[in-house]
Amino acid sequence: MPLQNIDPTATAAWKKLEQHFGETKGIHLKEFFAKDGKDRVDSFTLKWEDFLIDFSKNRITGETLRLLLQLAEEVGLKDAIDKYFRGDLINQTEGRAVLHTALRAKEDDSILVEGKNVIPEVYKVKEQIKVFTDAIISGDKKGFTGKPFTDVVNIGIGGSDLGPAMVTEALRFYKNQLRTHFVSNVDGDHVREILKEVNPETTLFVVVSKTFTTQETLSNAMTIKKWFLQHATQKDIALHFAAVSTNTAAISEFGIADENVFPMWDWVGGRFSLWSAVGLSIALAIGFKNFDALLEGANSMDQHFKTAEFEENIPVILALLSIWYNNFYDAETEAIIPYTQYLSRFSAYLQQGIMESNGKSVDRKGGRTSYQTGTIIWGEPGTNSQHAFFQLIHQGTKLIPTDFIGFKKSLYGDTDHHHKLMANFFAQTEALMNGKTEKEVRLELESKGLSSATMEKLVPYKVFEGNKPTNTILIDSLTPKSLGALIALYEHKIFVQGIIWNIFSYDQWGVELGKQLAGTILNDINDSDIGDHDASTLHLLQVFKS
Ligand code: F6P
Repeated sequence: MPLQNIDPTATAAWKKLEQHFGETKGIHLKEFFAKDGKDRVDSFTLKWEDFLIDFSKNRITGETLRLLLQLAEEVGLKDAIDKYFRGDLINQTEGRAVLHTALRAKEDDSILVEGKNVIPEVYKVKEQIKVFTDAIISGDKKGFTGKPFTDVVNIGIGGSDLGPAMVTEALRFYKNQLRTHFVSNVDGDHVREILKEVNPETTLFVVVSKTFTTQETLSNAMTIKKWFLQHATQKDIALHFAAVSTNTAAISEFGIADENVFPMWDWVGGRFSLWSAVGLSIALAIGFKNFDALLEGANSMDQHFKTAEFEENIPVILALLSIWYNNFYDAETEAIIPYTQYLSRFSAYLQQGIMESNGKSVDRKGGRTSYQTGTIIWGEPGTNSQHAFFQLIHQGTKLIPTDFIGFKKSLYGDTDHHHKLMANFFAQTEALMNGKTEKEVRLELESKGLSSATMEKLVPYKVFEGNKPTNTILIDSLTPKSLGALIALYEHKIFVQGIIWNIFSYDQWGVELGKQLAGTILNDINDSDIGDHDASTLHLLQVFKS
């Protein structure tokens, strides 16, 4: 069954939200707290497993939330969730189901795609991943000179790189002896730098491409194969190369042994594929057991999303808050700030997930949306980001709703560092909310004994307006399971927003044009003549070729 077509702006809830926005937009966050007292925190905190989500520091009242929840009801979110989990072809422009959730389903679940239960196949590939990764990690599988593997190079781009790269870094604490490297960009210099670090005798190359047609990945794989063959023979490729794709025919042409080919399915979007064999590098780096725990965490979040009432549903609430700022406050960006260096690639990963999914301007009726859709996502870990771009969040002219993600426990148990890290975590959301008033600034400057002339000059610059909305996501500790749940949380947030904006979140036609033009321009660069281009591009090509 297709998704419903409902213009969110035509709902009764949207109209009421517009009016409600007019009535509440002038209220400072501090006033909400003063009025609601401690009840505010109770009302606007969600607890689930080892997650605590405090969304009280948002510019909302109980009525805002009620209307946002009404919006979710009116656009048929419940019906859409059912279609999503049951495998309906909700990626309508590509005629596909959207079933990354099936990759972490339980073995006795049944999910039908075109009448066939896909779970047995999912578990067959999981077993293949287990057997392969166990043999590499234990050293049972060896390289062409009989030495155990020491390094793994993942060759892929977009969803075939970002997920594995982000998770491998995030779960570094759980890593075994294998060193992992990621080659994504079609930048030969990068490829050479990685090859400098590895020994062909002890390196496993994992070529990951859902389509096996992506220029970057195929070029990098060919370059690496050539380099490998300078040290080994054609038959050694079978020992040192593995591949993950839906396009198994193209893999065998490349020369990869059948037993090292890991299938995936067209009902898994590239940017949601780390749970499949695309996560092979993850399973190699942290072992299958930990990889499975990652999937288990995601499955737990899936169950929560599928069954919790909307007012207690974490992905639903976070999606609605984001819509509140995007569509009513005209906020254009959202920052995601994890307070752990392990999550240094988390926002880069979510940039693809969120922006490739919801960066759309045509609605499900085929017309242009009259309202804003996908938010711009950015961020870096705290506290580094505090010393980089937080100035703009605190005192700039733009409203930037921010998610703060922190952990109660550090992994090595260094409390001194962890307390300092988390003191910053809590201090930032407090500062962003409360700011600093003119009166407070004056008192502070007076206590420093400043002359009144100097003080008058400084006061305007030292005032912090505050009133900056944040969500606090506090998790017990960073484990494979909690990371799985955290990623799934954002995946479902993407889904909810796409449903409400009445767009198709699971295609990515927008990246095609650049790819096509790059093909044409590559011919222009390699051939003697340059074809038809605008004056600027033509001139640039002439300079490049001269
Ligand atoms: O950037 C477009 C895109 O199709 C992504 O959606 C995908 O993750 C990436 O390219 C890589 O594609 P593939 O896995 O087919 O090489």
